Amino acid sequence: MEKFNICVVGAGYVGLVTGTCLAELGHHVVCVDSDPRKLKALRAKKIPIYEPGLDKLFYRNIKEGRLCFVGSVTEGMNHKGRRAQVVFIAVGTPPRADGSADLSAVEAVAEAVAKNMREYTVLVDKSTVPVETGEWVCKTVARFNKGAVPFDVVSNPEFLAEGTAVDDFLKPDRVVFGVTSPRAEALMRKVYAGIKAPVLVTDVKSAEIIKHASNSFLATKISYINAVAAVCEKVGADVALVAKGMGLDHRIGNMFLRPGLGFGGFCFPKDLEAFYWISKQKGYDFQLLKNVKDINEFAKTWVMRKVEENLWNLEGKTVALLGLAFKPNTDDMRFAPSVDIVRQLKDRGVRLRAYDPVAMPNAKALPAMKGVVFCRDPYDCAKGSDALALLTEWEEFRSLDLKRLRRVLRNPIILDGRNFYDAGQMRGAGFTYCSVGRP
Ligand SMILES: NC(=O)c1ccc[n+]([C@@H]2O[C@H](COP(=O)([O-])OP(=O)(O)OC[C@H]3O[C@@H](n4cnc5c(N)ncnc54)[C@H](O)[C@@H]3O)[C@@H](O)[C@H]2O)c1
Repeated sequence: MEKFNICVVGAGYVGLVTGTCLAELGHHVVCVDSDPRKLKALRAKKIPIYEPGLDKLFYRNIKEGRLCFVGSVTEGMNHKGRRAQVVFIAVGTPPRADGSADLSAVEAVAEAVAKNMREYTVLVDKSTVPVETGEWVCKTVARFNKGAVPFDVVSNPEFLAEGTAVDDFLKPDRVVFGVTSPRAEALMRKVYAGIKAPVLVTDVKSAEIIKHASNSFLATKISYINAVAAVCEKVGADVALVAKGMGLDHRIGNMFLRPGLGFGGFCFPKDLEAFYWISKQKGYDFQLLKNVKDINEFAKTWVMRKVEENLWNLEGKTVALLGLAFKPNTDDMRFAPSVDIVRQLKDRGVRLRAYDPVAMPNAKALPAMKGVVFCRDPYDCAKGSDALALLTEWEEFRSLDLKRLRRVLRNPIILDGRNFYDAGQMRGAGFTYCSVGRP
């Protein structure tokens, strides 16, 4: 397998996993990050994010000299005399207030790459971006490419999910290359030669839309089942059985049909908004995406509604929150439903206690979490609380000591926002138990 000199710009959840996995495939990888704190940690061989399975590959590839970290694109593209042949862009594309994607970091990287190219270079966009970003990257590079060095821009969307990112990267369902030249396609095939997965080669715009359309579709599936759960709750039907009955149809499939407190994280909410925004800007009002968002906002009010149903007046009551991360196996708090839930409850004068196995440091840093009492374990969290709400289905919450939990709670009320527990077992243990869309 041919080995390349690769520069990955942005060493966050996607860039760090991408860089580490490309090094694992044998390439020589230099990761660039402009955040001095992150860079300091990485250089001290500390992983600044929680991502299961990343550590082993990270240490091995640093030790074997295939992975290192620098603070600028200039350094990254010419590290110890090795010229980068491929530059992956993996910087953030956060939402602006109007829902559009802020692409200023992508532009900054394109400019820096253009100024540092000396021979044919392929710029690979891995960040999630709206359609036509590739064209803008191309124009930007052309503008600052004073030496008329040949280059190609490729769209290579990333489909990894936090919590399973390493496996998702190394064993993906598919790899997409949006290219404008056979030369770029051939190079991308060589870079990914160590990964066994179907490869779909498209034009750049189609590749960009594949990412937005995929995430928006998954978000739609989640909102769909959350809406079905709301109907089930009204009539006393069981959404778990409904989802099972739907999922057995192979045309539908059983994935992403688990109701809960709405989707969150750095991808679904912002990609849905950005896809709506770019569609509208191009002349199509993609109303379905608006509805998906509205259903998601409603799903995030479930805890609040259940607290009201069970506790009458909220002022001065205490609620324990188990789990804060937007899903298990990650420390990521970006757009976590817990943030909205905390805000709603605090606004009604509820006192909050919380525990999460790994996301508490990130949660504590959020202004929205001010006033929340962070606890050392689930029992400490439940202590003296009028109800306990499960927000994230961490595996460690599966086998709680129910007798102990009942003893420490002021009222034995469990609001299971993830349909994690068995209703019969919970009720049998003496709890008032509510779950989403189940009787
Ligand atoms: N997080 C996910 O699960 C996921 C999955 C697929 C795709 N994506 C997409 O990948 C992109 C990155 O997401 P992320 O979660 O890794 O974000 P992140 O915030 O964790 O990482 C981005 C990194 O880029 C760095 N950065 C920003 N501007 C820079 C610059 N000019 N030069 C160097 N470094 C710079 C930041 O310091 C940060 O460390 C986004 O577009 C996101 O939508 C994310």
